[in-house]
Amino acid sequence: MTTATDPQPRDAQKMEKIVSLCKRRGFIFQSSEIYGGLNGAWDYGPLGVELKRAVKDHWWRHMTQLRDDIVGMDGSILMNRAVWKASGHETTFSDPMVDCKTCKKRFRADQLDTSECGQKPSKTPATCGGDFTEARAFNLMFKTYVGPVEDDSSMAYLRPETAQAMFVQFKNVLEVARKKLPFGIVQIGKAFRNEINPRNFTFRSREFEQMELEYFIPDSEADGLRWTDYWLEERLKWYESIGIPRSKIHIYDVPKEKLAHYSKKTYDLEYHFPFGVQELEGIAYRTDFDLKQHQNASGKPLEYFDEEQKRKFIPHVVEPSAGVDRTVLAILCEAYAEEEVKDEAGKTETRTVLRFAPCIAPIKCGIFPLLKNKPELVAKAKEVRDLLRNHMTIFYDDAGAIGRRYRRQDEAGTPFGVTIDFDTLGEKGPELKDTVTLRERDSMKQERVKISSLLETLMPKIRT
Ligand code: GAP
Repeated sequence: MTTATDPQPRDAQKMEKIVSLCKRRGFIFQSSEIYGGLNGAWDYGPLGVELKRAVKDHWWRHMTQLRDDIVGMDGSILMNRAVWKASGHETTFSDPMVDCKTCKKRFRADQLDTSECGQKPSKTPATCGGDFTEARAFNLMFKTYVGPVEDDSSMAYLRPETAQAMFVQFKNVLEVARKKLPFGIVQIGKAFRNEINPRNFTFRSREFEQMELEYFIPDSEADGLRWTDYWLEERLKWYESIGIPRSKIHIYDVPKEKLAHYSKKTYDLEYHFPFGVQELEGIAYRTDFDLKQHQNASGKPLEYFDEEQKRKFIPHVVEPSAGVDRTVLAILCEAYAEEEVKDEAGKTETRTVLRFAPCIAPIKCGIFPLLKNKPELVAKAKEVRDLLRNHMTIFYDDAGAIGRRYRRQDEAGTPFGVTIDFDTLGEKGPELKDTVTLRERDSMKQERVKISSLLETLMPKIRT
């Protein structure tokens, strides 16, 4: 294991291409774009929403359906303000902020050497010679009011993390789930942070989604450290299963002096984004800090009773906390490729391809009738479409030359394509009747498959 470094060169050009592809193909748009946008807020378009859903579904399946020890919940975004007092967010969830009196921009004091000066974009605030105010703490929680009266007693926050709902519902969930330790609760949902400088596309946003697990364990530090290592390994395996290899993930073993106040051990999983090596997920051993805080503040017992040992105690917690948007961005960066290929006429052209792992690809299979004005071909293609769409996301495309249709799906990251042609109709002999061409995106290899075997060929490839 290593510590946080930035061994990879930055690749601004690649990032620009990805941002442009995301807009052009409908993965991600700027929020409120026609009004000039809103800094730190993004909308996911038709392909983006499918990709995001596939990532969340895959995480959820691996956390709940494929395990016996974890259950899910879905907490509210608005919670009693007392939650954020007890958790420490009201007093400590802040970043140090400075104002530049020269360019009038605001910066995070700990990011002066990586931000852009407001007057001299080629310089950073650390080198531009600007005149800065003293750093002061800026609380990142968004405030709102519950009910018609806007006063201190009705003030509430938009949650800055999903975790706290799982701590305050720990007792209710434990009772209904009837689980013994170790057991976990997972949640996926929106979180809001009034970041001082949202940047790097969706990487640092003001509204984003988290996928968090609170894994409750017995109350000894040795267990805490063991389970933290266990979850580190599990999470690396998960990223691998969605197409982000271990070699691209940097494990930052957070040094003691940099640990959050609630943590005794944290690993940050960092990905080599084109804009640098940055955090994707944190895996934190949070001790019994949260449950103890909520027990003390609410006066309600949040203990666990161990039947075998006849002993009550507050469980400790290991928390793998991942960002959905950051995972989606890492997937896009990892999948993006440009390569030289020959077109149908043998001419060299550049194809842009998103090599998504099939299990998270927004569209699993493209369906292409060779011609759209031949009713028998169209009827067969629709038969194939109806067969597949019950089991996977498909895209039916009958517009333009077949090579162009393949390229469009390459760019959308669709791993498979099925072409219905004259052979399918049996025009070249009975042995090929009711077979189709199955094209694989990455190798571009094509094989002939019976329509009746399509599902059994594709299903194992798209589900992992
Ligand atoms: N409950 C612990 C917690 O929230 P965190 O490190 O502050 O820990 C966890 O956040 C993950 O949430 C991060 O690793 C990141 O993936 C995501 N995240 C945090 N702030 C974000 C932001 N402003 N924009 C996008 N994702 C963010």
